[in-house]
Amino acid sequence: MFDGLEEQKSDALLQLIALCNADPRDEKIDVGVGVYRDAAGGTPILRAVKAAEKILLETQETKSYLGSAGDARFVDLIKPIVFGEAAASDERIVGVQTPGGCGALRLGAELIVKANPNARIFVGQPTWPNHQPLIECAGVEMVSHPYYDRATHEIAFDAMMDALEGGKAGDLVLLHGSCHNPTGADLSLDQWRAIAEIVARKGLVPFVDIAYQGLGNGLEEDAAGTRLVVEAADQALIAQSCDKNFGVYRDRVGSLFVKASDASGAGVVMGNLLSLARTMWSMPPDHGGAVVRIILDDQGLRADWRAELDEMCGRIRAIRARLAGYDERLAYINDQNGMFSMLPLTKDQVLALRKDNGIYMADSARINVVGLSDESVEGFARAVVEKMDG
Ligand code: LMR
Repeated sequence: MFDGLEEQKSDALLQLIALCNADPRDEKIDVGVGVYRDAAGGTPILRAVKAAEKILLETQETKSYLGSAGDARFVDLIKPIVFGEAAASDERIVGVQTPGGCGALRLGAELIVKANPNARIFVGQPTWPNHQPLIECAGVEMVSHPYYDRATHEIAFDAMMDALEGGKAGDLVLLHGSCHNPTGADLSLDQWRAIAEIVARKGLVPFVDIAYQGLGNGLEEDAAGTRLVVEAADQALIAQSCDKNFGVYRDRVGSLFVKASDASGAGVVMGNLLSLARTMWSMPPDHGGAVVRIILDDQGLRADWRAELDEMCGRIRAIRARLAGYDERLAYINDQNGMFSMLPLTKDQVLALRKDNGIYMADSARINVVGLSDESVEGFARAVVEKMDG
């Protein structure tokens, strides 16, 4: 039965973790996968998370099933963080807990196919390498359009808008809520407004992936664009993740929200989300969602989490400023947001950095800027510029 299976290439980002781990050089630098690292190069568990885990350990009385929607209180607490306080009671927006942002994206894609097998989704390039497999695995047709011009480091906004003008009512538009992965080039508020206008005018459906809220310019600021398009659209999907902004990566904490045209349509959507989730993971893992719920329900822990999130965001901005200041060809890095930027390097130069300097970045030359410790920024920038100069 398995004889017909074709060999699969390993996921390049996940493989990079193994490659870097296997490198014995002490001075190696891991700017590969998107994981926050502190000034010393570690990824410690947040204080608020540790405290909430203690509370959970002491107070949880059962591990009995919660159901396919997961922890409803967790979802209720995340909703205003993404959509703002005013939208918290909007009955057109329903949500379920999912296994991380990936689970949310996949559930969203399954819902799209179920609602309209002919729907197409417009996806700007480059995008996070797992977007395409996730979307296509569910059977949604993907239409690629330019998003970022590597030569100028700018968003190819006119080309993007031209592509969206070709969309039909019911077509979807994949948007990165903030901290664009892999480029770090976020839409300006004016650009979000223009997208909101075209979405409303043409009846397009935004599918927003918001996985890094709070790590770009702040929790509210990073949701501003998402709120604009969701407000303008009659219907929308939003895949949310807590994996990065709560640092609970392996615990897989996320949610999928769907905006329907009215409250009764939202009820039908909810029923479909539950039945789809049941066929995939039945119920999301509870631990991480419960931890996030405890933090958000407790004023002190919430404040501590906000302070830690601001600290992470500040470190990202500080590293960006240092890289940008090293060489004028890297200056654009300071205008970008979140963990990622793409360096002006060819794949050969990326591979040479790996071999000669023990520097591990994605083949696309995407770097996770906080993979750099305070001490390694300078040496890293020097090695990169040396390769750029040939
Ligand atoms: C990344 O892009 O590095 C992260 O989103 C981790 C992942 O799952 O790929």
